[in-house]
Amino acid sequence: ASVLILNGPNLNLLGSRQPEVYGKTTLSDIEDMCRAHGQDTDLDVVFSQSNYEGALVDAIHAARETHVGIILNAGAYTHTSIALMDAIASVELPCIELHLSNVHAREEFRHTSYISKVCIGVICGFGAQGYVLAMDALKAHLKL
Ligand code: DQA
Repeated sequence: ASVLILNGPNLNLLGSRQPEVYGKTTLSDIEDMCRAHGQDTDLDVVFSQSNYEGALVDAIHAARETHVGIILNAGAYTHTSIALMDAIASVELPCIELHLSNVHAREEFRHTSYISKVCIGVICGFGAQGYVLAMDALKAHLKL
């Protein structure tokens, strides 16, 4: 089974971007962690990142053909994007919303998520480890 781990805007800068908030782990380190965990748990991992809302919508659409579920860190689009919410609702794949930081402990505008409404669950506040937790959660949800 193959899972899409999709990352939104500014996450390409992880490691150097506000390390006090997001940690020092780079996105490529996280990708390595996910691949290693996928090998241990028998999940194929496709890992990608885009700063463009439309590219994220396209990736969600394409996942319908190729993946059993999606783990999505939509970055700031979480708090703004009806288009991403609609894309997730349209493909009927289980999607887990993920954030490195505990968005509920931060600014008010980060407390609202358009995508929570169409995701099976949310993992936030556990840093890079959250990606691995999300993989286990998706596997359990799918009874794989
Ligand atoms: C984030 C939280 C968002 O509020 C923020 O805009 C991000 C990263 C996180 O992983 O903690 O870009 O999704």
